[in-house]
Amino acid sequence: MFLIVLNTCYALGQTAMINTQARNAKSLNGDWQVIIDAGGGGDWRQVWQEKKPQKKTDFIEYSFDGGPMLKVPGDFNSQRCELTYVEGTVWHKKQFNYTLKSDKRLFLHFGAVNYLAEVYLNGEIIGSHEGGFTPFQFEITNKVKEGENTVIVKANNNRKGNGLPGYGYDWFNYGGITRDVDLIETPNTYIEDYFLQLKKGSLNTVAGWIQLNGTKTIQYLTIKIPELNITYKTKSDEAGLAMVIFTADFELWSPKNPKQYKVSIEGETDIITDDIGFRSIEVMGNKVLLNGNPIFLKAVNIHEENPYKGSRAYSIDDAKILLNAAKELGCNLVRLAHYPHSENMVREAEKMGLMVWDEIPVYQHIQFSDSLVPQKLETMMREMVNRDKNRCGVVIWSLSNETYPGTPNRNKALIELTQKCRALDSTRLIVHVINTQAYANNTFKVWDPLYNYSDLIAVNEYIGWYIPWQGKPSETQWNVEFPDKPVFISEFGGEALYGSKGPTDEAAYWTEEYQENIYNDQIEMFNNIPNLCGLCPWLLFDYRSLGRMNQLYQNGYNRKGLLSEKGEKKKAWYIMNEYFNEK
Ligand code: GCU
Repeated sequence: MFLIVLNTCYALGQTAMINTQARNAKSLNGDWQVIIDAGGGGDWRQVWQEKKPQKKTDFIEYSFDGGPMLKVPGDFNSQRCELTYVEGTVWHKKQFNYTLKSDKRLFLHFGAVNYLAEVYLNGEIIGSHEGGFTPFQFEITNKVKEGENTVIVKANNNRKGNGLPGYGYDWFNYGGITRDVDLIETPNTYIEDYFLQLKKGSLNTVAGWIQLNGTKTIQYLTIKIPELNITYKTKSDEAGLAMVIFTADFELWSPKNPKQYKVSIEGETDIITDDIGFRSIEVMGNKVLLNGNPIFLKAVNIHEENPYKGSRAYSIDDAKILLNAAKELGCNLVRLAHYPHSENMVREAEKMGLMVWDEIPVYQHIQFSDSLVPQKLETMMREMVNRDKNRCGVVIWSLSNETYPGTPNRNKALIELTQKCRALDSTRLIVHVINTQAYANNTFKVWDPLYNYSDLIAVNEYIGWYIPWQGKPSETQWNVEFPDKPVFISEFGGEALYGSKGPTDEAAYWTEEYQENIYNDQIEMFNNIPNLCGLCPWLLFDYRSLGRMNQLYQNGYNRKGLLSEKGEKKKAWYIMNEYFNEK
């Protein structure tokens, strides 16, 4: 069990157990009562105590009763118009009845709360969590009461200078309890965690482990994969850890054949099942190999927003909207920018045959020299890897986007983070996305010390939009500091408002034709990029971003989508679709 000690006296959060979908859970989703704490007074009034008047002269200046309800999961901004632009605190309350048998344990599990969560049970704080996109839990075995219980969550989405992300970012800061809340009951000793994936470079050997949590740490454990006639036995040690290694003749997972197996892990006290696929991903020289064969990564960037509702995406239906659109474009990979998306998104992508790029919100202006930041980086990376490490669809851990080599402590912090990530999981590619670049004499130069630690040279470049062309696109030369590594264009593109009319050769009119030209020009240039292993346009759908203030064309939206927020295909969509179909 990985414990996080936060910067407060009471808070001790736990990294969540994995595969909650397969556990014995009671959902706390649904209507929650809320207090909108725009003035920030809820803390000193201690609203979690829910005091009631004791005598005739008493009055209490807060109550959940009489106030609004919000849906959980759901961001608060999109649910009530007075909350649209709120970055602050909303207190959420839910009551539940429970009877816990004496031989069971109970956990209160959150899929995600953006950004800070403080959680109270029956008037007492049980812990807190920082980070808007990863799961966390608290054990409440000894705190839950027979009968009625009350959970109160302070959800606060204020930006923090030393947060991840920091103050500035180009997406909508949806706050609240944005993913599922569950009560999860387990046996006294339960299967807390496991890692079952192919060993790096192998097509037939699973190397992993199982971790128990509880008092009966020494147990016989069996892994069964009925379809392959596998019954593998292992034994855990005093720390509850069992090592796993076995071989099988797997039908390998790939975008063309997204094969998953029903796997069960059976211990003496607990049993859990999962759908697991097996594949290998590696970089060999300047190529990316999937299952030993070179693959061109046909990707698209996606924000976790339901475009039609203008709200944080979280459900399987939301995931299908986004992923079906990526499929239709012709993709084999989705870059889930710029933070871990919901587990639904990752699982659905894998089922549909889309490789996944998972990313933590280490975005542009991070205060790497703040003393708390290195620990936050590590915690967030661990929480992402922990949740998704058995999803074979996930082929890339992305640990940063557009950070700057000159920021104090940036290199040290991100190099250490890379080493820790590789120690946790050596089977996937680890990537840093960089825009350290120069463009002169029609030569595009790319360098950064962090590329030493990145499996791909992942470049964000906006030639044709933020940077005007300096010559013929087809004659643009690329000078990449690491000539032996695969190059991945992780972002490119430009803005267009669907249906906008105006001079098609001027950026200021947001025409589809201007965006289309950028795509045509970029495609000509791609022929000159050495070791190009894939492309990822920025991005699939137009999405909400407060910094986009041109009210004629943007109206609070980043318009670099190939699709509008209504799903209309812009001209550039057809260019990219044709390119991907031919690749
Ligand atoms: C950046 C960044 C994106 C951003 C995009 C843009 O480079 O990584 O998150 O939104 O450019 O300017 O649209």
